[in-house]
Amino acid sequence: MTLNPSVIDDDNQIVEPQLSGILDRFTPSAIARIFDQAVRLKEAGHDLADFSTGEPDFDTPDHIKEAGKKAIDAGDTKYTALVGTSALKGAIQNKFKRDNDLDYTLDEIIVSSGAKPLLAYAFMTMLDPGDEVVVPAPCWPSHPGAVNLVGGTPVFVHSGIEQDFKITPAQLEAAIGPKTKAVILCSPSNPTGSAYRQDEIRALADVLLRHEHVWILTDDLYEHIVFGNFSFSTIAAVEPRLKDRTLTVNGVSKAYAMTGWRIGFAGGPKRLISGIAKVFSQSFGSSPAMSQAAAVEALEGRQDFLPEYAKAYERRRDIAIDGLADAPGLKCNRPEGAFYLFPWCEGVIGKNTQKGKTIENAVDFVEHLLEDWGVVVVPGEAFEAPGYFRMSIAVSDDTLRKGVGRIVDACKALQ
Ligand SMILES: Cc1ncc(COP(=O)(O)O)c(C=O)c1O
Repeated sequence: MTLNPSVIDDDNQIVEPQLSGILDRFTPSAIARIFDQAVRLKEAGHDLADFSTGEPDFDTPDHIKEAGKKAIDAGDTKYTALVGTSALKGAIQNKFKRDNDLDYTLDEIIVSSGAKPLLAYAFMTMLDPGDEVVVPAPCWPSHPGAVNLVGGTPVFVHSGIEQDFKITPAQLEAAIGPKTKAVILCSPSNPTGSAYRQDEIRALADVLLRHEHVWILTDDLYEHIVFGNFSFSTIAAVEPRLKDRTLTVNGVSKAYAMTGWRIGFAGGPKRLISGIAKVFSQSFGSSPAMSQAAAVEALEGRQDFLPEYAKAYERRRDIAIDGLADAPGLKCNRPEGAFYLFPWCEGVIGKNTQKGKTIENAVDFVEHLLEDWGVVVVPGEAFEAPGYFRMSIAVSDDTLRKGVGRIVDACKALQ
């Protein structure tokens, strides 16, 4: 950490309290600038096609909302057991069995206020400063972010559109060394939507079996958002010999349109779950009681709307991909799940906008889309993948058609 000279007096004494050096790992980025600009334009009344948000545009289903309301009326407004209510842990246990063929005992399950903080708590439990974590990229920023937060070192393994944004077993093997403490998997992926087939997970599992000192954290938040005949698999079920060192992270945010209820959960070996509970005990005060009751209803109630939601995302994926096929300089794969597209945009680099600005990189292109065309997307730099951008397709068909039309026009207008 470098000290700002203004906080050192003539005798070299520090004259104001310092922030943790960990914060230096989180540098303000072009992305923050783009979001600020998007907010300014929105507030000024511009008609933006906003593809930046990573949450379902569906409302939480009524029966789940009712369960939350009922819980409040019944007085479920206090602390619960730190690691989750017995009712919710039971529902999670049933869910893992029903959906994933995974058997977890209740003390192998933990609930938290969303999957995102759970990732940080999990790495706090697994890592010592300097430990390395293999992170396939493009990646969701909070994956390396959670590693950085606790002093770990993310080791990125890159895969581009030509390999459908999926790492190979050889790449994984090459990335694992003596300092590797954990590997993250995320399928279907935020930001690419790519998902590993069972045979692909099997091949990665074969590599991981050879490295017994490595934890595996699989982020399965998009499990239920898969398209066509794609069948979701998770590594602890594909290779039961890895179950004792795998943390299977999931939640209700994406599948059940419950981002604001803040319920995530995980299944894993007891010593890891007990370790996370120990971290919880000094930093966290149980998840909201009424949200846990709503999550019980989500997991135990009707599930018939899940394929309907997935079908809606699939239709939007196809509308967007068909539209973007007319955009010179862009290339898009056809993701198997989640609600994102991750188009390659290097074909527009070096071209000039009508205002005479040269597009030097994806950030420039994204800024041009925002400022001159009213389209909000996120540059690949945010996901350790320069040369791409992420667009969320969890928007109405109208917004999608309008925004995709603008992107195509923007690409055609570049010289
Ligand atoms: C891959 C992935 N994991 C976890 C989360 C966060 O989930 P939660 O809302 O449960 O914190 C997100 C949200 O964007 C995500 O994309």
